[in-house]
Amino acid sequence: MKTLRVGLLGLGVVGGGTFDILKRNGEEIARRAGKDIVVTCAAVREKDLELVSQRVGNTIELFTDPHQVVESAKVDIVIEVMGGIHPAKELVLKAISLGKHVVTANKALLALHGNEIFKAAHDKSVMIGFEAAVAGGIPIIKALREGLSANRIEWIAGIINGTSNFILSSMRERGISFAEALEEAQALGYAEADPTFDVEGVDAAHKLSLLSAIAFGIPIQFDKAYTEGVSELTAKDISYAEEFGYRIKLLGITQRTDQGIELRVHPTLIPEKRLIANVEGVMNAILVSGDAVGSTLYYGPGAGAEPTGSAVVADLVDVARMTDAAAHQRVPYLAFQADCLMDDPVLTIAEVYTSYYLRMSALDRPGVLADVTRILANLNISIEAMLQREPSVGEERVDVIILTHRALERDVNQAIQEIEQLDTISGPLVRIRLENLAS
Ligand code: HSE
Repeated sequence: MKTLRVGLLGLGVVGGGTFDILKRNGEEIARRAGKDIVVTCAAVREKDLELVSQRVGNTIELFTDPHQVVESAKVDIVIEVMGGIHPAKELVLKAISLGKHVVTANKALLALHGNEIFKAAHDKSVMIGFEAAVAGGIPIIKALREGLSANRIEWIAGIINGTSNFILSSMRERGISFAEALEEAQALGYAEADPTFDVEGVDAAHKLSLLSAIAFGIPIQFDKAYTEGVSELTAKDISYAEEFGYRIKLLGITQRTDQGIELRVHPTLIPEKRLIANVEGVMNAILVSGDAVGSTLYYGPGAGAEPTGSAVVADLVDVARMTDAAAHQRVPYLAFQADCLMDDPVLTIAEVYTSYYLRMSALDRPGVLADVTRILANLNISIEAMLQREPSVGEERVDVIILTHRALERDVNQAIQEIEQLDTISGPLVRIRLENLAS
């Protein structure tokens, strides 16, 4: 049997998971791939060298300079699992220029530089696998690029950041604050030491921009994604949402409309009866709506050593099977042939139509709600449901919550501005978008 020789850039969580899977399941994987897949060398940080060499023994060569892995004559395919943009980008481009295939779990790198990397790979006829970059162990890239290729994809809505989902689950289940839930996530090792990318929606937007490109046949456009995280959410709004029969999830949503492509990450109310509303903790789930198949849901672990390693190894098997095939016989990087990408515009958030949860603190006095509803009506925003809390003893302000039908975000922005100017309304109004996610 022939051999595919692998060089690892990074032997941390994902690199270690990949190494362990290949070691444990190597024989079975070879029966699938038609080749032995063997890790020949890896690049690790100086400070990890001793620990890693104890772990891998003398089975592979270890370098502290990652360029030595990329340049090694014993490497046919480079696995980039070091993360970050630099030097990952330079190493990936160097591997491509040397005619080596690449598998990467680096969603930030592809979100920012994927178009350039895929162009370079296309020119050198090498493969780039990136299943591990989106939703860890869930084979969503495979599903979109191949399993659903008969469909005109209509929309995708995904829980694609496990850390945020863990935080929202903890806030809902135990009524704790965002700060407390984040602290727990950090203690359990879910959130990064600097959790900004996780909780501000950036990590989800990286992944969503890749899904959007593959779903609609457009270039990767992370810079046009609207990104709002979970850090401003309160347990109070999560609880009010429950009273209306909704859960709040950080969703990545991309949708094809007549005006253009929506590309947005934000906290979203979704009906609690939807399966995806019941995805809890660090798990991920992606709902895809296609015109032929209807709605399909993909669920699983979005991070972790072996779940992400599982996706890396699946890409390795694909590469092993297709190395001898002509480039035009391979699955295109972004699902659509490189010369068939469309230039549909990505809509700004102001151009999006969706429904809204609006919470305001109002004086409990005649005419206050009439003023609010008049502003909404004048902007063509229709109310679906309303809830007013009884004022606490000695308190003359009440929480008023309004759910709207679908409306244009630009109009809702205008309404919020006008409502906040009313003397009877105090403080900023809370706005959370709402999606029904019906087929
Ligand atoms: N930080 C990511 C998450 C892990 O919380 O989902 C993998 O992308």
